[in-house]
Amino acid sequence: MARITSFEQYQSEYKKSVENPEAFWEEIANEFSWKKKWDKVLDWNFEKPEINWFIGGKLNITENCLDRHLEKRADQVAFHFEPNDPNENSRAITYRQLYEDVCRFANVLKSKGIKKGDRVCLYMPMIPELAIAVLACARIGAIHSVVFAGFSATSLGGRIQDMHCCAVVTTDGAYRGAKPIPIKAVVDDALDVCPSVENVIVYKRTGEEIKMIDGRDTWWQDEMKKVSAECPAEIMDSEDTLFILYTSGSTGQPKGVVHTCGGYMVYTKYTFENVFQYNDKEVFWCTADIGWITGHSYIVYGPLLAGATSVMFEGVPTFPDAGRFWQVIDKYKVNIFYTAPTAIRALQASGLDFVNLYKLNSLRILGTVGEPINEEAWEWYHKNIGKGNCPIVDTWWQTETGGILISPIAGITKTKPGFATLPLPGVQPVLVDEKGNVIEGNNVEGNLCIKFPWPSIIRTTYGNHERCRTTYFTTYENLYFTGDGCRRDEDGYYRITGRVDDVMNVSGHRIGTAEVESAINMHFDIVESAVVGYPHDIKGQGIYAYVISTKEHDDIEMLKKEILAEVTKIIGPIAKPDKIQVVRGLPKTRSGKIMRRILRKIAEGEISNLGDTSTLLDPSVVDEIVKGRV
Ligand code: PRX
Repeated sequence: MARITSFEQYQSEYKKSVENPEAFWEEIANEFSWKKKWDKVLDWNFEKPEINWFIGGKLNITENCLDRHLEKRADQVAFHFEPNDPNENSRAITYRQLYEDVCRFANVLKSKGIKKGDRVCLYMPMIPELAIAVLACARIGAIHSVVFAGFSATSLGGRIQDMHCCAVVTTDGAYRGAKPIPIKAVVDDALDVCPSVENVIVYKRTGEEIKMIDGRDTWWQDEMKKVSAECPAEIMDSEDTLFILYTSGSTGQPKGVVHTCGGYMVYTKYTFENVFQYNDKEVFWCTADIGWITGHSYIVYGPLLAGATSVMFEGVPTFPDAGRFWQVIDKYKVNIFYTAPTAIRALQASGLDFVNLYKLNSLRILGTVGEPINEEAWEWYHKNIGKGNCPIVDTWWQTETGGILISPIAGITKTKPGFATLPLPGVQPVLVDEKGNVIEGNNVEGNLCIKFPWPSIIRTTYGNHERCRTTYFTTYENLYFTGDGCRRDEDGYYRITGRVDDVMNVSGHRIGTAEVESAINMHFDIVESAVVGYPHDIKGQGIYAYVISTKEHDDIEMLKKEILAEVTKIIGPIAKPDKIQVVRGLPKTRSGKIMRRILRKIAEGEISNLGDTSTLLDPSVVDEIVKGRV
C-alpha cells in the first residue's frame, strides 16, 4: 500500500525504503501498467554516473496517465482550464477528451515524420494544448523539451540547436496579464539559426497576424482535423528518455537535464499522492508554468498518473487584480493549492482586502515550492489563506531531482515555518562540510547531498555526460550534490538555506550569474561585468550587476536601459538586473579571480564587514564600489 496515512507509517515506510530500496520501489512500481515488467529494479554508480531503474521494463507513461483511467474516469475532468481573461469561457477537459486529443496530436506528429527519439521543442503559453503536446510526444516516444515562453529568441534558438530538434510546437501569441505577447514571432527569430527544424505547428490562440512559412509551418487546428483519435502507444524502455528540460547552473549555458520514462513515472505519482494526500474527486491546483519542472511533474504527469482533477491557469496572480488566485480557488472549489513563496509575498503586499472578498473554504492543503519561504510569508499564508487549518507542505526539490525529495506529508508530518522538514521515503540526504566529510548528528549545517539514488534522479545532461558528472557527482565522492546549503535542527528537520554556488533564485526562477554576465557583456560598451544575488523582499533574490564600460557615459540611465534590453534579448525579462552599478574596476585577486564574496556583501549592504581585502590586486576599487552603491 503506497499511500501513507500516519506518521508511524511514514517512519516505517522510510525505514523500509532505506533498508531495502529495491523491494520498496518494486512494490510501488507494481501498481502501474507495464508492457513488460523489469528484470532488475536498480543498478547504480554515482562515479560514472550511471543510474538505471526498472531495468528491462517496458511501458508508455501516457497509458498510465490516460488509457488506464478510461474505464472509471472517462467523464471526470482532468483539467479545468482557466483563461487569462476571467470573462472568457473556461474549458473543462475530461479524461476521454484528453486521451482523444493526445492521440490526435500524436498522429499529427507522426504525419510529419516525427518518430521515437526525435526531439520536439514546445514553446507555448499555459493552455491545455501544451499538456496535450507534451503527452503526444510521450505517446510516440518523441522527446519533449518545453521552453518557458518567457525566454528570448536567442535562448530558445540555443536550446533547439543544442538538441537538434526536428520540430517546434507553438502558438500565434499568448495572453498573460493585460497585454498579449508575441510567441510565433519569437520562434521565427530563433529558427533563423536552427536548420534542423523542418516543422512548426502553430495553435491559434490570439488570432493575431503572424507569418506562416510555406512547407514548414502548419496550423494545429487544421492538422487535428485530418487524423484519427486513436494512436497506439509506442513501447518504451524504462530508461528511454522521456524529456529534456534546460536549467541554469553556476557556469556556462543552461544544460539539458534528462529524465527517463520508468523511474520518473513511479516517483512523480508516488510523491503527488503522498505529499499532497490527494483524495479522489478533489481539485488540485499547481500555479507553476509547464515550462518549469514543477509544471512537468505536478501539473502534467503526477496528477494525471493519479487520475486527479487539476486547474490549469493561463494568467498571472495580479490580473485583473491581486484577488485572482483566490477567485479561481472559489470558482473551482480548489482543495489543494500549490504555489511559490514569491507569489505569496507579492499577494501579501497587496493587502487583505483582495483575500477577504473570497471564501476559500474549499481549501484543505497548501503547498510551496521553488525557494526558501520566510517565516512571515509562511504565517500569512497559513493564517489568511488556510484560515489556520490547512497544513502547509514546503516542498524542496530541483529540476534534476524530477520530484519532491524533502517535504512534510500533508497533515501527517508536523510542520515548522521555513522547514522542508523530513526526507520522503527513498530519499537519503546527508550534510557535508567543505572537505566532503559527512556531518552527523543534529543542530548542524552544511552542503546538502543525497547518498542513494531515487527513481527520478537526473540521468545525464543532454549531449554532454561529462558535464553531468562534474556538476553533480564529483564535488563530493559518491554523493549527488544539490548545490544547496542546509541546516538540520535539533529534531532532524531540514531547512534549506539557499544556493551555495553561483546560481541565483529570482522569484523562484533559477538563473546563473555567468549567464547574466555573458548577456551583459554582449553590450558593445561593456568590457566586463560581475553579477550577484541580494535579498529582495518580494523576489527572494534580486540581481545586482557591476559593469565596467569602455568609455565615460554622460547618460548612465540610457546605458542601464540598453543593458536591460540586451539581457532581455539574450535571455528574457526574468533575468533583468534589478540594480546596475557602473564601476571602474572589480575586486580581483592577483591571479585575476573576481572576489564575489565582497561584491555580494556590498550588494547586501553589509559594508562594515567586508573581510580581508589585502590580497586584492587593487584594494582601492572596493572603496569606490562602496561609495557608488545603488
Ligand atoms: O535552491 C533550491 C530552490 O530551487 C532550486 C531548484 O530550482 P529548480 O531546478 O528551478 O526547481 C524549482 C522547483 C522544484 C533548489 O536547488 N528550492 C526549491 N524548492 C525549495 C527551494 N529552496 C528552499 N525551499 C524549497 N522548498
